[in-house]
Amino acid sequence: MFVSPYNQIALGRADRKVRIFDTTLRDGEQMPGIALGVQEKLQIAQVLDDLGVDTIEAGFPVNSPGEFDAVRAVAGAGLKAEVCALARCNKEDIDAALKAEVAAAHVFIATSDIHLKHKLRMSREQVLEKAVWAIDYAKAHGVVVEYSPEDATRTDLGFLKQVLLKVQEAKVDRIDIPDTVGSISPAAMRYLIGKLKEVTRVPLAVHCHNDFGLATANSLAAVEMGADQVHVTVNGIGERAGNASLEEVVMSLHAFFGIRTNVDTTKLTRASKLVARLTGVSVQPHKAIVGDNAFAHESGIHVHGILGDASTYEPVAPDLVGHHRKIVVGKHTGVHSVESRLRDYGFTLSKDQLSSVTARVKRLAEDGKQVDDAELVALAYDVQGKGREAPRLVTLEEFTVITGFNFTPTSTITLLVNGEKRRASETGVGPIDAALRAMRSAVSKGITLEEFRLEAITGGSDSLCQVTVRLADQDPAPVSALGRAVGPDIVTTSVDAAMEALNRLLWTKSQITGARS
Ligand code: KIV
Ligand code: ZN
Repeated sequence: MFVSPYNQIALGRADRKVRIFDTTLRDGEQMPGIALGVQEKLQIAQVLDDLGVDTIEAGFPVNSPGEFDAVRAVAGAGLKAEVCALARCNKEDIDAALKAEVAAAHVFIATSDIHLKHKLRMSREQVLEKAVWAIDYAKAHGVVVEYSPEDATRTDLGFLKQVLLKVQEAKVDRIDIPDTVGSISPAAMRYLIGKLKEVTRVPLAVHCHNDFGLATANSLAAVEMGADQVHVTVNGIGERAGNASLEEVVMSLHAFFGIRTNVDTTKLTRASKLVARLTGVSVQPHKAIVGDNAFAHESGIHVHGILGDASTYEPVAPDLVGHHRKIVVGKHTGVHSVESRLRDYGFTLSKDQLSSVTARVKRLAEDGKQVDDAELVALAYDVQGKGREAPRLVTLEEFTVITGFNFTPTSTITLLVNGEKRRASETGVGPIDAALRAMRSAVSKGITLEEFRLEAITGGSDSLCQVTVRLADQDPAPVSALGRAVGPDIVTTSVDAAMEALNRLLWTKSQITGARS
């Protein structure tokens, strides 16, 4: 890793290991709009376990019967990680956690005057009593107990210390310090954790929210002062602006401090993609570590540097986080990018030809066109004097899709591929999914759907829609092609867009094979 040397000068290297408490399935799921079912929680829990997190907070079992079933299913899945459930400091909540057979209960009650006055309407003494009662009760039932004084970072320090001493006396296993509304600065977090470390020997955790965009920084600040565990979520999903992101915190701990975790970082991108898909919350392209652009380079100067040595513009190698480097051609492209991309595809162009392709790429990008691999290959083909019109290699003969209530959407498609009739049927989560699966099945299972965007152009149920589809293949080289279509029917328009992408993809593949032979 090629991070700033000042990290080491300022902080030194720490021979420590920090526990990763993942709350994607609890606080992450509290993000507005997310609702995970039993199977989805199980799938995410499996990936988190494989990633190596130490604790999986599976949910809040008292919330609903469905949530209870999901937590119990995760607890019974035979995972290596400790499975934990959230509970308020009352019998009903803790009993639900115990009934779900989790290994750990995360009990919480707020301690800040704001919460005591406006939410709980309780005195400090009452809160303290409830916290101690809950820890005693849960511990008596044999589970590991982690306690959170909710809104700790807005709690009076004297009272917070008193709370910590009391829960320590009650033999709590871990204490978490939540920055519930993400309202502390890294310097203040350092101060607070330093003060709390003076009064307790119990392992300390932090739970940072991102209301000011400081969740990762605050988690690191707490670890700098000796926090033993961090609460995180995959992709930083969570209440309001989210929680500290697992991938950012883990990579920063490793890269800046040399602090170890049990996380296998090469599995981070895969976990991010699965969580994005199952929660329906997509990851912004420029998201640190796992975003699509985290290792993408477009500007000529950067690509020139990267091609010389990747450390020039990459602090971390993409494969360390299971990602890949992408050289993108567009408005800021230089000759080096174009040359490198085309060389990957087997094209060797003269200096003049490269300059011509580069200039045309820039012009197209400035006109608002996304220059995909297929376009780049077409330009290379054109400057070699071979013409750039891609013949249609695939035509649609017929296609049906059946969908309905309590019926799995099913599509059958017949294509003419290079004159040969190909037929395939597939099911999907919806009619579009079924149709696009059938289409790919009829041509090649190696073709993947990289992007699908459906936008309504006008309002109303009879509105026109625009569909963008990006298909990709790895053989004979990683290549992708876009297709776009506009129409009144979302299913047929999607098929039209996919047909365009498919034709461009197959043509590009054939050109690459030709250029390489
Ligand atoms: O943000 C918070 O304070 C919480 C508690 C339940 C720990 O999520
Ligand atoms: Zn929270």
